[in-house]
Amino acid sequence: MRIIKHPASLKSILDKKCLKGSTVGFVPTMGALHEGHLSLVRASLNANHLTVVSIFVNPLQFNDATDLEKYPVTIEKDILLLSEAGTDILFLPGYSDVYPEENPVARAHYDLGSLESVFEGKYRPGHFQGVCAVVDRLLSIVAPTDLYLGQKDFQQVAVLRKMIQLKNHNTKIVVCPIVREQNGLAMSSRNARLSPAGKEKAGEIYQCLKIIKEKATQEPFETLKALVIHRLSENDIKTEYLALADTLTLEEVHSFDTNRHLIILIAAIIESVRLIDNMPLQ
Ligand code: PAF
Repeated sequence: MRIIKHPASLKSILDKKCLKGSTVGFVPTMGALHEGHLSLVRASLNANHLTVVSIFVNPLQFNDATDLEKYPVTIEKDILLLSEAGTDILFLPGYSDVYPEENPVARAHYDLGSLESVFEGKYRPGHFQGVCAVVDRLLSIVAPTDLYLGQKDFQQVAVLRKMIQLKNHNTKIVVCPIVREQNGLAMSSRNARLSPAGKEKAGEIYQCLKIIKEKATQEPFETLKALVIHRLSENDIKTEYLALADTLTLEEVHSFDTNRHLIILIAAIIESVRLIDNMPLQ
């Protein structure tokens, strides 16, 4: 595995490969890698001539300074995992490589419409503008054939689809399924901040999503929502939002509708760690 730090060096390697017809799969990450990330890397390795993974903790997408401070950094382990997985190139840029301009926040605004004001957007103002800024920049450096993203960040996928369309990047998004711990907890770098007991309890989030899906034909959504929020609170989990939304538009709906593709979205806090998860109904 080659480790490249400078955008110009990476571009020149990739340009040569692409001229020879190689396809490039790209997995952007913020490090603290786990099986979820590795599943994206493997999917890319299986489908492309070349796989590039980036590690860059993007300050622009953290609306909460403490969250950024506490974000786990495990670079030595990450390098080992990526190398063992067979990654071709690890891109490890510094802040000024990604944001050469003085004030990147003032630089670009992405017109994300309502995608930016609902669910994650509502609770994390500015978050998606930061995600778009970094992925836009990374895509202009890597210019991948395929961009690999995890379904756990469902709204992020919708936002990045929109950004790719707005900025005319010639890249296809490949969404990979959520990878879960044995108790159902969706894998996330943030799980490392949970105590063993907290991790065990956090498995309830998945159980609750399953309950809603299983009972969708028997009970109204609002009844199930109240039941589940209560069950989570009994496990010291505070629900920030629990909602039903259209999978394409992310428009919130308040009742089950078999004529539409719907998804259950949740954000919840346990031991001061904010976790998100989701489950499509179909
Ligand atoms: O999902 C993430 O880890 C980040 O939001 C991403 C896509 C790497 C951008 O920083």
